[in-house]
Amino acid sequence: MSQPRARKSRSAFACTECGAQLPKWAGQCPECGAWNSIQEVALPAGEHGGTASHGSGNAAVQRLADVRPEPELRRPSGLAELDRVLGGGLVQGAVVLLGGDPGIGKSTLLLQACAALAGGAGAAVLYVSGEESPEQISLRAQRLQLDAGAVRLLAATGVEQIIEQVASEQPRILVIDSIQTLASATLTAAPGSVSQVRESAAQLVRLAKQTGITVFLIGHVTKEGALAGPRVLEHMVDTVLYFEGEPGSPHRLVRAVKNRFGAVNELGVFVMTDRGLRQVPNPSAIFLARHDRPVPGSVILVTREGTRPLLVEVQALVDRSPLANPRRVAVGLEQNRLAMLLAVLHRHGGVAMFDQDVFVNVVGGVRISETAADLALLLAVLSSHRDRPLPLDLAVFGEVGLSGEIRPVPNGPERLREAAKHGLRQAIAPKANCPRGGIAGLHLQPVLSLREAMDLLPAGPVRGPDQAG
Ligand code: TYD
Ligand code: MG
Repeated sequence: MSQPRARKSRSAFACTECGAQLPKWAGQCPECGAWNSIQEVALPAGEHGGTASHGSGNAAVQRLADVRPEPELRRPSGLAELDRVLGGGLVQGAVVLLGGDPGIGKSTLLLQACAALAGGAGAAVLYVSGEESPEQISLRAQRLQLDAGAVRLLAATGVEQIIEQVASEQPRILVIDSIQTLASATLTAAPGSVSQVRESAAQLVRLAKQTGITVFLIGHVTKEGALAGPRVLEHMVDTVLYFEGEPGSPHRLVRAVKNRFGAVNELGVFVMTDRGLRQVPNPSAIFLARHDRPVPGSVILVTREGTRPLLVEVQALVDRSPLANPRRVAVGLEQNRLAMLLAVLHRHGGVAMFDQDVFVNVVGGVRISETAADLALLLAVLSSHRDRPLPLDLAVFGEVGLSGEIRPVPNGPERLREAAKHGLRQAIAPKANCPRGGIAGLHLQPVLSLREAMDLLPAGPVRGPDQAG
């Protein structure tokens, strides 16, 4: 008779940057190319590489049409801006990762949500902190004058201990601050290591799925922008939110980068005050720096973040370069896109920038990934290059194609109406985005090509290499 083989302690390797799993160690991650990012992760006995197993006993194949899903139960968090990024409130059994730099306000945001949930809505909320003592949390709640009296607090770092407490407390919402402080007794690795973070999160995900508790995991982000170590977490949770803000600016943005229960790229906007985070329900113009005089190189772009239009100022500075390879720097926009657009400007607009440094920036720390910013970016560059300001009341958007055509972007009329609402009087936009009946109060200048858009700009002396200096 063959003896059952003794279970060997298993281990695997994972990349701390991208979360890729490998069977053996390597100096460089084959997935994302990062060096020295592969760490050993121990798998607890019984787990076979995968996370959150879905039970193997009663697997059965069924027709999709026969599946009767239970209606998604959503609970408003009391913070409408947070609900917006979550896709309309907290979902039962969902696991939400909230990432952000230390000190950005993650604990404050979730404490405020907990206060609203436990106070007004009367939901049972358990706030587990491995970073701050209950006294510290209470002091902060007092300082920010939060009505958080009904929130239940637990200072703990052991996952098994937390899960035990959850079983007796029976909360509907569980907040873990932060996932990097947790450790499971099944592993010997230090808290914050990839294997601990992964194992702790896996246990909490299982808990959420079994009990229907909504779990928030707070995660710190490293300077490079990755969730410290546990990029692995992004695959395990239902929703990934990033809490962002510019140093020195009171504005805070919550952005959904992954959401199984809603749209991604949705944006929630808050302002930091000495009484906690205040919501900005109508943020479309907060990033707009209003100048009293027109300045060269500045253009107002109507962008769309998630489901809302947003007016932002795009700035450009074009300056003669002393370098053989002039600099192209884009802050808040894509660097490669800038290089491509400058090539289009050269080929189809006849303006060469090969001896000029080009810097572009989106004011207010907003990051724009949509192509609707193309035209605004090029007009800002041209305005700076010619040293001719554009009108203060002009809004611009539109995608620029490689053959110099201006292509329509989603939700054109809505963007135009938003511009009119904020007192802008003229707009340069793709022809297909301009409604036939026009927009009340807005002088529309529809364009089909980059040339047409350039002809609308105030002419000016182009500072060529011979004149500059
Ligand atoms: P905190 O929530 O502790 O940041 P994180 O959990 O992301 O590390 O916030 C940092 C500090 O800022 C804290 O002392 C409270 C303070 N703060 C305010 O005074 N007002 C606010 O609106 C926010 C968000 C934070
Ligand atoms: Mg904190």
